[in-house]
Amino acid sequence: MKICMIGTGYVGLVSGTCFSDLGNDVICVDSDLKKIADLKKGIIPIYEPGLEELVIKNYNNKRLKFSSNLKDSVSKSDIVFICVGTPTKKNGKGADLSQIFNVAKKIRNFISRFKIIITKSTVTVTTGDEIEKIISKKVPKKFFSVVSNPEFLREGEAIRDFYKPDRIIIGTNDKKSNNLLKNLYSPLTSRGAKYINTSRRAAELIKYASNAFLATKITFINEMANLCEKIYVNIEDISIGIGLDKRIGGRFLRAGPAYGGSCFPKDTKAIASTGDKFQTNLSVIKSVIKSNENRSSLLLKRVFNILKGKVKNKKICFLGVTFKANTDDMRDSSSLFMIPSLIKKGAKINYFDPTGEKQDFKKLKNVNFSNNISAAIKDSDLIIIHTEWNDFKSINFKKEVKNKNFIIFDMRNIYSSIKMKNKKIKYFSIGS
Ligand code: UDX
Repeated sequence: MKICMIGTGYVGLVSGTCFSDLGNDVICVDSDLKKIADLKKGIIPIYEPGLEELVIKNYNNKRLKFSSNLKDSVSKSDIVFICVGTPTKKNGKGADLSQIFNVAKKIRNFISRFKIIITKSTVTVTTGDEIEKIISKKVPKKFFSVVSNPEFLREGEAIRDFYKPDRIIIGTNDKKSNNLLKNLYSPLTSRGAKYINTSRRAAELIKYASNAFLATKITFINEMANLCEKIYVNIEDISIGIGLDKRIGGRFLRAGPAYGGSCFPKDTKAIASTGDKFQTNLSVIKSVIKSNENRSSLLLKRVFNILKGKVKNKKICFLGVTFKANTDDMRDSSSLFMIPSLIKKGAKINYFDPTGEKQDFKKLKNVNFSNNISAAIKDSDLIIIHTEWNDFKSINFKKEVKNKNFIIFDMRNIYSSIKMKNKKIKYFSIGS
């Protein structure tokens, strides 16, 4: 099939590349000329394991193209995916859908035969209705159908998630579109992926409800961890003990820092606003947002307690600063709050991240990037393991750290507290 992906951000680039790898002709289009020029040279704007190889392979076999010509790309395609950003509005309330509507206004000029227009970006409920209205001002209804097909890819696991999705959600009442999309996804459904056809509004809501539910699960286990810390119970036992109940499920029960990234913080706020818009108080989600927003200050207080209130001139090393492992994404990472707060209290920060130095910290005084783990930790008083990269899982701290009284605060619980105790290392983790 001939596919156009509008927006070569995370969702558009990964999905477009994978669709081309499944044998479709895909044009990824973006208004950012530099990004397109880079992609043509095989330079990938995001860190995602396996993506570069797949882009180069499919670009070379000419199934994957990059372009900044929207007219040409849309005109040639049968299926047009809209994958532009839907950030939180400046006032913090709800999603800013202006990029989506701008795309709808532009592409309506290039539709002269039947095309399926699909929102893959996370869009608030009724956005599909709005897009349909915008396009129908210039295009007869028989020439297009607006469908919602939300994306559930996780950063760092995106390629695997694309090929092995738990489900494919197609929101449309149009039989012709549904049949074409069943065909598009048949290489995945034939390998066991479930294909679910719902109304368009239901598909839009499924995406938000999924992310809000997962955010709730994480927040729940984080709050349980807070309790565990007071009563000397290990949160890992609780996660395993409740997760084995099939009604609960063991995934997304890892206690840690506040959840971050490009989706959970943004999408929980957006669905809470949608609830308000339709006079429905989504009180559970609202308290999840609040609890998560408080979490970074709570963990910071724990850092102060660990250092017995003496933060000034303490050398603190962060291992990992992104919002989770296997990504270079800093969006809503708790380190963005913690590092500047510690600096204000007089700490000296050293950090290492496998994805390199971060722009966010370049201007901060007393924040230094080390380009390997040994250099980062060697002079530390306190080592904070902030993300769960494999690189951090078997460090010989005793050998590497000069200061004999160093302390570790493992915010991802990747080490065993018993083993650390046996090694006589001062070790703190989450929820124990
Ligand atoms: C998420 C959704 O999982 C994905 O389906 C959606 O399409 C986009 O948003 P992503 O943001 O890439 O994906 O990361 P994810 O792995 O879901 O983690 C989100 C946040 O939750 C991270 O900060 C992570 O550290 C945290 N998390 C996740 C936990 O703290 N504990 C867990 O058990 C799982």
